[in-house]
Amino acid sequence: MFRYSTLVAFCFAAIVAAGPCDIYASGGTPCVAAHSSTRALFSAYTGPLYSVTRGSDGTTTNINALSAGGVANAAAQDSFCARTTCVITEIFDQSGKGNHLTQAPPGGFNGPASGGFDNLAAATGAPVTLNGQKAYGVFISPGTGYRNDATNGIATGDAAEGFYAVLDGTHFNNGCCFDYGNAETSAHDTGAGHMEAIYFGTETTWGIGTGNGPWIMADLENGLFSGSNAKLNSGDPTITDRFLTAVVKGEANNWEIRGGNAQSGALTTFWSGVRPSGYNPMHKEGALILGIGGDNSNSAQGTFYEGVVTSGFPSDATENSVQANIVAAKYATTSMVSGPAVAVGSTVSLRATTACCTTRYIAHTGATVNTQIITSSNSTAIKQSASWTVVAGLGNSACVSFESRDTPGSYIRHINFVLMVNADDGTKQMHEDATFCPQAGLNGQGNTIQAWGYPTRAFRHFSNVGYIASNGGPDTFDATALYNDDVSFVVGAAFA
Ligand SMILES: *[C@@H]1O[C@H](CO)[C@@H](O)[C@H](O)[C@H]1NC(C)=O
Repeated sequence: MFRYSTLVAFCFAAIVAAGPCDIYASGGTPCVAAHSSTRALFSAYTGPLYSVTRGSDGTTTNINALSAGGVANAAAQDSFCARTTCVITEIFDQSGKGNHLTQAPPGGFNGPASGGFDNLAAATGAPVTLNGQKAYGVFISPGTGYRNDATNGIATGDAAEGFYAVLDGTHFNNGCCFDYGNAETSAHDTGAGHMEAIYFGTETTWGIGTGNGPWIMADLENGLFSGSNAKLNSGDPTITDRFLTAVVKGEANNWEIRGGNAQSGALTTFWSGVRPSGYNPMHKEGALILGIGGDNSNSAQGTFYEGVVTSGFPSDATENSVQANIVAAKYATTSMVSGPAVAVGSTVSLRATTACCTTRYIAHTGATVNTQIITSSNSTAIKQSASWTVVAGLGNSACVSFESRDTPGSYIRHINFVLMVNADDGTKQMHEDATFCPQAGLNGQGNTIQAWGYPTRAFRHFSNVGYIASNGGPDTFDATALYNDDVSFVVGAAFA
């Protein structure tokens, strides 16, 4: 009896472990692309999930799942990226079709990075756990994007397809366009119906749903749609679940938007009906994008954990089973910070650790953030200019903000990657730009103060001025020389 029970338990476990793409295959609408930095989406998948490239020596390594069908080996990333920066270089297609996503090339709308290529995502921007095991999502800052213009097996013309993606419902903006799906192979806008992709955000130029957003909509090119011809679809709600499941699917003159909480419950259909006028038939081209529009518009932000593209129009029942699988994966938040504690409620100083500058502290002169030599014999005013009260992050309470000691109500924030001290104007932009997630110092001392909204960037002193800098990049303050030292600060007691 004992052996028999064990066998039954084993078989039950094997059935429960069917991945999202096993479910789509059972439904007759197989995955033709499957992307995730957090887990394998087929129960038998043992290949790489994604690759990371580190700043210290430019080398790249693949991150696999811990087991077939399992969660990503985040510890392998942490070890490879220790004491340096890492970016996600490639998100592998698990479907076997080779539809991998890599750094998006220049398009009709060029990226700000060198050569017009979009930026790559920080490897550590979106830590989470799945069933208690750590993994990292793909945190898309404005300017970041991934693409594949030469795919295999993705729908073209008016052919049917479906998508789902698991996203962070608290990370969005109104820029164009945080998309995942089917786009132009030329990376240029080739007209209405040349795209079909999940969109998530608060862009209101075209369609909208109820409330202030964000909404799940579809980017069909030359427009984001919440339904058919009407701008407002009152059936498409504002949805801000920390983890959300977004679904878009389309077939000849029929399409749907569905969504739900990725941590519990079922999917709800937000739109089911005919195409907007001018979108029947569709003219899909079959390229794949993540985090950008079809023409490489890259002003949007959002976080992607997993998603697929199917061949054929999945049934609601199939998607409902996929939703149950996602809920069972148990996505959860985890700490956004590391290194010495930077405690909310404390008042601190931030001392530079670069050899040139170990008596310098982050201070401000008016709105300008700089470093100053501070000692106990300076005036109270000078000492207060280099003292900061740590408060819960204005844009994300899992991180922190630094309130000026001499100007209460003003905070360190970045604008165009330059640090400033600005009064809190109450806007989402200000709050996000004033939110920082302290990490263990890259040079082994103190903390590296990562920008929440741009996790490839951190507080840096450069010529005694404060920036958020990346380890290499278009600006002089992104210089790789001395980067680890310049971004490491010892957080100590405040001067005043
Ligand atoms: C603080 O005092 C030291 C001398 O003790 C001086 O070198 C430094 O310039 C002063 N800092 C400022 C910001 O005036």
